[in-house]
Amino acid sequence: MKTIIGAEKKGKTCPPRRIPNSEKMTVNKLQSAYDEVADQYEKRIWFDQHILGVARLRKILLSKATGIILEVACGTGQNLPLFGPNSEITAVDLSPKMLELARANAIKHNLDVNLALMDAENLEFADGSFDTVISTLSTCTFPNPVKALQEIKRVCRPDGLILLLEHGHSNLPWLAKFQDRNEYKHYQEHAGCRWNQDPLDLVQSAGIKVLRSKRNVLGIFHSIEAKPLDS
Ligand SMILES: C[S@@+](CC[C@H](N)C(=O)[O-])C[C@H]1O[C@@H](n2cnc3c(N)ncnc32)[C@H](O)[C@@H]1O
Repeated sequence: MKTIIGAEKKGKTCPPRRIPNSEKMTVNKLQSAYDEVADQYEKRIWFDQHILGVARLRKILLSKATGIILEVACGTGQNLPLFGPNSEITAVDLSPKMLELARANAIKHNLDVNLALMDAENLEFADGSFDTVISTLSTCTFPNPVKALQEIKRVCRPDGLILLLEHGHSNLPWLAKFQDRNEYKHYQEHAGCRWNQDPLDLVQSAGIKVLRSKRNVLGIFHSIEAKPLDS
């Protein structure tokens, strides 16, 4: 007989199952996982980009980035052509293979970008170095997303702008339940992606002040405009 846990019985979402510690991705494991999927990455996100409209969400949000810009976990450089012509762009990622593709993307679009291999949880920049710090579809993979967001906050100028496009737990109960039930399978099949986190909770836990945020696409994607809290 199937045991129905309380939350499911009432039609609410069941609590996320948490990934067992033994299965947690270390930074080294993540690096190899993304090196492995790098060549397939753009094909894999095609549906999200063009059918779910993530490409449009990127374009709208990142049009707000100005000045000296840092992109954290830039992947294959999908966002690089979206920054204004007068910006100075630095982009970092943990995976050398993803960075190689980002470099090719920058060359293709004739962009001058400083690319560097770096862990988002230990950014090698002085406090307040950037006018805008952006990151997209990344907090789901960071082993310690709050630490990475604290780093994002630290390297952003106190009166600067933080722009995040993140995906997480849907606010539609049926979909949230599906995400919870498949949390572990998704994590294993998508390079350590935790798809049922709440990005706004993470941002607030990092002491970042949300100025505006909007849920999109079945309540999964969040476009977040924020600033370092203490400014
Ligand atoms: C789902 S991809 C998103 C890529 C890109 N931001 C985009 O929107 O297409 C996640 C990226 O985060 C990078 N990443 C994961 N953990 C990281 C870390 N601790 N520091 C820097 N980059 C990291 C991966 O190498 C990968 O390129």
